[in-house]
Amino acid sequence: MRLFAVSTALLALTSVNARSLANTSFNPLDYINPLIGSANQGHVFAGATLPFGMVKAVADSDSDSAGGFASDAGNIIGFSQLHDSGTGGANSLGNFPIWPHPNCTDDDITSCKYSSDNRRTGYFNDSLVATAGYFGLTLDNGVQAEMTVSNHTAIYRFTFDADVSLNSPVILVDVSDLEGGRVNGSASVDSSSGRLTAAGVFSPSFGDGSYPTYTCIDFQGAEVRNTGNFANEAVGTGNTSISIPDQQSLGSGGVWTQFKASQNNTILARVGMSFLSIDNACQNAESEIPNFDFDATRKAAEQAWKKKLSVISIDPTGVSTERQILFWSSLYRGFISPQDYTGQNPLWNSSEPYYDSFYCIWDSFRAAHPLLTLVDPLSQSYMVRSVVDTYRHEGFLPDCRMSFCKGYTQGGSNADVLIVDAYLKGVPGIDWDTAYEAMVNDAENEPTDFTIEGRGNLTQWKDLGYIPTHDPASPTPGNAALYTRSISRTVEYAYNDFCISVMANKTGKQNDYEKYTGRAKNWKNMFNSDQTSKVQGYDTGFTGFLQPKYENGTWAEQDPAFCSPISNPDSCYFGNTNYETYEGSVWMYTFYAPHDMGDLITTLGGREAFTNRLSFLHFSNLANIGDEQAFLPVYQFHYAGRPSLSTQRARAYIATSFNTTVSGIPGNDDSGAMGSFAVLTMLGIWPVPGQDVYLLNPPLFSEVSITNPLTGKTATIRNKNFDPSSYSSNIYVQSATRDGKAWSKNWITHDFFTEGGVLELTLGNSESKWGTGTDDLPPSLSDYDF
Ligand SMILES: *[C@@H]1O[C@H](CO)[C@@H](O)[C@H](O)[C@H]1NC(C)=O
Ligand SMILES: *[C@@H]1O[C@H](CO)[C@@H](O)[C@H](O)[C@H]1NC(C)=O
Ligand SMILES: *[C@@H]1O[C@H](CO)[C@@H](O)[C@H](O)[C@H]1NC(C)=O
Ligand SMILES: *[C@@H]1O[C@H](CO)[C@@H](O)[C@H](O)[C@H]1NC(C)=O
Ligand SMILES: *[C@@H]1O[C@H](CO)[C@@H](O)[C@H](O)[C@H]1NC(C)=O
Ligand SMILES: *[C@@H]1O[C@H](CO)[C@@H](O)[C@H](O)[C@H]1NC(C)=O
Ligand SMILES: *[C@@H]1O[C@H](CO)[C@@H](O)[C@H](O)[C@H]1NC(C)=O
Ligand SMILES: *[C@@H]1O[C@H](CO)[C@@H](O)[C@H](O)[C@H]1NC(C)=O
Ligand SMILES: *[C@@H]1O[C@H](CO)[C@@H](O)[C@H](O)[C@H]1NC(C)=O
Ligand SMILES: *[C@@H]1O[C@H](CO)[C@@H](O)[C@H](O)[C@H]1NC(C)=O
Ligand SMILES: *[C@@H]1O[C@H](CO)[C@@H](O)[C@H](O)[C@H]1NC(C)=O
Ligand SMILES: *[C@@H]1O[C@H](CO)[C@@H](O)[C@H](O)[C@H]1NC(C)=O
Repeated sequence: MRLFAVSTALLALTSVNARSLANTSFNPLDYINPLIGSANQGHVFAGATLPFGMVKAVADSDSDSAGGFASDAGNIIGFSQLHDSGTGGANSLGNFPIWPHPNCTDDDITSCKYSSDNRRTGYFNDSLVATAGYFGLTLDNGVQAEMTVSNHTAIYRFTFDADVSLNSPVILVDVSDLEGGRVNGSASVDSSSGRLTAAGVFSPSFGDGSYPTYTCIDFQGAEVRNTGNFANEAVGTGNTSISIPDQQSLGSGGVWTQFKASQNNTILARVGMSFLSIDNACQNAESEIPNFDFDATRKAAEQAWKKKLSVISIDPTGVSTERQILFWSSLYRGFISPQDYTGQNPLWNSSEPYYDSFYCIWDSFRAAHPLLTLVDPLSQSYMVRSVVDTYRHEGFLPDCRMSFCKGYTQGGSNADVLIVDAYLKGVPGIDWDTAYEAMVNDAENEPTDFTIEGRGNLTQWKDLGYIPTHDPASPTPGNAALYTRSISRTVEYAYNDFCISVMANKTGKQNDYEKYTGRAKNWKNMFNSDQTSKVQGYDTGFTGFLQPKYENGTWAEQDPAFCSPISNPDSCYFGNTNYETYEGSVWMYTFYAPHDMGDLITTLGGREAFTNRLSFLHFSNLANIGDEQAFLPVYQFHYAGRPSLSTQRARAYIATSFNTTVSGIPGNDDSGAMGSFAVLTMLGIWPVPGQDVYLLNPPLFSEVSITNPLTGKTATIRNKNFDPSSYSSNIYVQSATRDGKAWSKNWITHDFFTEGGVLELTLGNSESKWGTGTDDLPPSLSDYDF
């Protein structure tokens, strides 16, 4: 099976070990396989998109199609232009799929299949080609479908059988989406030009409300023979429009154009999209791809990707091609979402950028956004400006947002972390006063419905310093999420308040600084020093865990291992949150005090006990690296002065859970979150989100360089004694220098990346004293007492 286009350059490279960093013929696109993570619930978008592009064209599968195409699904049901990448839960977007029939049996227009249930067909596995900016496959009906994109427009090249007797193509557009979320819609066809247009209102895949969307499809390459509409399999030849009810009332419905035999056996279909109007969809198409030039559009997309990726260079000397593909493909996925919908917002007019598909910030604040701050600060600036503008117009920062709708909140108000991370790292162009106001709003004002914005139970948060566990004797709640997750919300709110305190401090707001620093300690208020944990009947020997607590101060019960991979792993997910932790166990959440690690280590019994407990979390399979909250605990050994153990763990996860197969990521990619973990780990820098702290580890290449796009300065991290053939030999830092001077801290700040410089790590085969002293540790609200 040909998984992706193996270019000749790539084949040549497998035997080339040494390549100078200055080799300008190096093309990172040769190392991008967009199909990684398109199976096994990775839900990665595998199709054609520009960096952060609104239009994302791909073949849609008939199952597990949250990202459109799934490598492990059988049939294709359409080709659509709007998608999300890596999301869990319901299928996202996939509006207005188009479908090509090469002809209709016996040349009878009613013998073609119109509904998604009936038109679906398989494809030839060996025809599948996915590269940055391009996707193609050949359907079992013999039609080869190739697609590439500009920002708001897709262009398809459909190639048909050369035998003209089999060639009278029908191309339809269906006013539906992937999840069946249509509220209503309409479609029209122009019987002389064959232009298809459609409008629809749809429900979002993980949120409240509905959104409108529009399409405009023009053709080139064949003369129009006939036009009409369809409602499921009812065909209306000559009918030029159709009004379509909600999904429950009608499955598929839309319009079609039939063509005479196509010239050169190909038809080009140009598909413009808009969230504003049909006219705008047509204008987008006409201005972006005026001449239906497929090859030029593809080339422009490839150029955009090359430029985006060019800020990083790696020295691949001795490193396997597999590792390089893993690196570049993971980085590529970091630029797919959020999506740039600037100029397309139907909700408010603003001169600020509008980005969508923050899906969800609970996932992306941990690695994906800090990666963007590092490699694409301008885009990060637009994204932060967009969330601040959402606060201006909707009253709250988003926690999750898709298709212009409010998405469901999963824990804290983690846009606060996003903002402070950008603030501390000097991301330009942001109205920090309004950003600060928005964070304080999260901390002080409870919204009507905190499942879609802000925080809940703020009265108790302020009065008691924790989120009380719901009293089981009280009336059954309508929305369980309003009452539960008391532990995970408590620790996340504490960290969110810490982030506010940091900005208060830097902007001279003494009272706020004291208030939020105080609340940042609230993580301890649900800690019960007597709580023990048994795992599969055996006492783990660790004492002291977070524990649910009622409003009256009495402890409630939740087994600390519950909702870890070894005990009811699926019980704390969104659909069934009747528990006090979200998508993870008490074991996991007990480590969540990223700002107060000195006190956390003391609370858990000191440096050695902490290290043992953190090792136990990883080695006893209590952590699930496929869920983003496990990222930071991989690296928290740094805080106990054991950076080597972080390195070991991080590399073990890369070696066992990340690879270049279609199933090569351990969970949903969640808008590039899993990819960002891989990239940052391979670069050897772990950003602690919301702090100006990067935890240091040796990169997985002999040298990596990042050129800051704003300052033009280059930061290089170089390994000495690096073993490129292994994930586990010579991995321990013995000593380090920064610009030639000794560097003993096990972390570094963002100025290294804005100012540039060289960090040189000398590696060896055993743990050393480097980075282990109390002075070498990252900052903490409370001092380290060891
Ligand atoms: C540059 O890389 C190409 C492959 O991308 C290789 O064929 C060529 O030999 C390299 N040139 C140098 C000077 O390293
Ligand atoms: C095509 O790939 C799918 C998914 O991997 C697989 O289930 C199917 O058996 C393959 N078909 C052929 C003909 O190889
Ligand atoms: C195209 O026409 C041929 C000959 O009538 C027929 O065998 C084939 O099934 C038709 N294709 C479709 C998609 O109907
Ligand atoms: C897509 O939009 C971005 C942001 O406006 C712009 O910088 C870029 O040039 C556009 N790309 C193409 C290929 O038009
Ligand atoms: C479609 O649904 C939206 C949202 O409910 C509504 O505002 C609009 O009037 C409906 N359009 C039609 C044509 O029914
Ligand atoms: C068909 O092919 C010819 C020769 O390659 C080319 O000049 C012409 O533009 C093509 N027509 C279409 C519609 O692609
Ligand atoms: C097409 O138009 C005719 C005449 O108005 C109507 O009877 C028929 O139901 C329409 N078909 C569809 C699928 O809308
Ligand atoms: C934005 O401005 C345009 C042009 O003035 C107007 O047509 C549109 O209704 C405005 N949109 C909103 C949401 O106010
Ligand atoms: C938490 O907030 C919800 C929504 O306002 C409320 O119904 C619930 O009673 C609160 N929980 C407690 C323990 O007060
Ligand atoms: C505290 O509240 C819980 C839940 O209502 C109840 O079970 C427990 O008995 C109360 N404890 C005390 C000391 O009143
Ligand atoms: C900022 O924090 C430092 C250190 O805790 C403290 O001394 C200073 O007063 C704070 N600044 C403000 C404005 O609160
Ligand atoms: C590839 O990664 C997936 C996801 O973590 C894992 O299940 C699978 O075992 C890995 N495959 C190999 C060959 O390492």
